Amino acid sequence: MESYWVDTTTRPSFSKLDRDIDVDVCIIGAGITGIMSAYMLKDSGLKICLIEKGEICSGVTENTTAKVTSQHGLIYRYLEDSFGTEFARKYLQSNEEAINMIEDIVQKESIECEFQRTDNYIYTCTDEYVQKIKDEVETVNKIGLNAEQIDKINLPFEIKTGIKFPNQAKFHPLKYLYKIVEILKNNNVEIYTNSIIKDIEKEGTGYILKTEEYNVKSKYVVMATHYPIKSFPGLHFLKMYQDRSYAIAIEPHAKITPGMYISAESPVASFRPINDELLIIGGEDHKTGDNSKDLKICYKSLETYAKEIYPSMKVKYRWATQDCVSLDKVPYIGEFSNLMPNIYIATGYKKWGMTTSHVAAKIIRDKILDIDNEYEKIYRATRMAPIKNHEEFGNMLKQTVYSLGINKIKMPKYKYEDLEKDSGGVVEYEGEKMGIYKDKDGKIYAVKPYCKHLGCELSWNNLEKTWDCPCHGSRYDYTGKLISEPATEDLDRYE
Ligand code: FES
Repeated sequence: MESYWVDTTTRPSFSKLDRDIDVDVCIIGAGITGIMSAYMLKDSGLKICLIEKGEICSGVTENTTAKVTSQHGLIYRYLEDSFGTEFARKYLQSNEEAINMIEDIVQKESIECEFQRTDNYIYTCTDEYVQKIKDEVETVNKIGLNAEQIDKINLPFEIKTGIKFPNQAKFHPLKYLYKIVEILKNNNVEIYTNSIIKDIEKEGTGYILKTEEYNVKSKYVVMATHYPIKSFPGLHFLKMYQDRSYAIAIEPHAKITPGMYISAESPVASFRPINDELLIIGGEDHKTGDNSKDLKICYKSLETYAKEIYPSMKVKYRWATQDCVSLDKVPYIGEFSNLMPNIYIATGYKKWGMTTSHVAAKIIRDKILDIDNEYEKIYRATRMAPIKNHEEFGNMLKQTVYSLGINKIKMPKYKYEDLEKDSGGVVEYEGEKMGIYKDKDGKIYAVKPYCKHLGCELSWNNLEKTWDCPCHGSRYDYTGKLISEPATEDLDRYE
């Protein structure tokens, strides 16, 4: 299940870290944030290395819908009510500037990545959201963007109302980033892949970053790892959760009109044309590790929905992604913790990583080079105020208590013998709890079903054949190999 972006590009390859190195800036994570942070710093005279646990752009970046927009859902009235008009204005401005920044880079570096300006819309088909959209239009116009309330969109269904953000953009993210990686290489940025940083320790005025075999010594560290790989003292795991969502790219066999769309209401439906023949439809969000519904229906539901709108459609691609959502809906960008100076993070993009990654790369560059940045304060990563979101904080706490305590002492309903071929789950085996996947041929893969981050019991994901953590969203494949952080180690396995 590869995304369209992966299928239409060739990934550049790099070697593993094969010695101890000494740099000024070590950027962990070669997704869009890490790559753009390195790009922003490439002319600074600092020695930079970019180090990635998998391949270049092999995490969330390759599975985006690639909408380059400042329209991050119905966010602006919420920001104004929660933090004030000036805050909302800065959030908007920073993301509008990011769109311009991407366009400037595309032109300056002559990148052929299908960059194209287009409008972006949020629409509603329910009465409940009509007033919310009116409020959003009012706030957005007040803070500086000429947004328009509309009553029709270029999709084949009726809406109640919507909001249009003009002059947003779309591009092919991997074509863009692979060219940037080439530029980094030509500017002596050291790039290593398949090298997992397991820990970061303070040493003198800098840090030692440890892989299994080698160390990186660096004064500045950028954790561009989607989710911070260090839990303490930053405590971001108390202020953020992770969501999974799904996308299909279809040939609708109907005219594809320009514009990108997302519904205001849940279940979210997102539309984004790739070209004249292909259209991405996304949705079916759920919290990572939530297996209260059968995940096998996620793509099916999207396909059924697509068929209702485009009866002759054909599915060409399917992919899934994962996003970090901060409790106050504002990303965390900047210092990781006051106790660990010169370590920076960028996370909590809540699905809007194309512009936010560029906002982040600029803030991080400015922090390292000691340049004032007018947006730094609104994204401050050390803030604890999100915990005031009592409802979501309560949900996270409940989930952690359940997965870390109650669920661990409960014996599973199923025994090992109950598992059918090509299925998995936490089962009882000789009085012990085991995480087992039985493949199509009956071969068994057994792991200890406890997350290597903080020990929560894992859930079996029967769609993607993975072990997912309901507490903070770490994921592992069926063999126990780590897929995504905050954990930094594979699961313990049974022979
Ligand atoms: Fe935190 Fe699993 S991700 S315990």
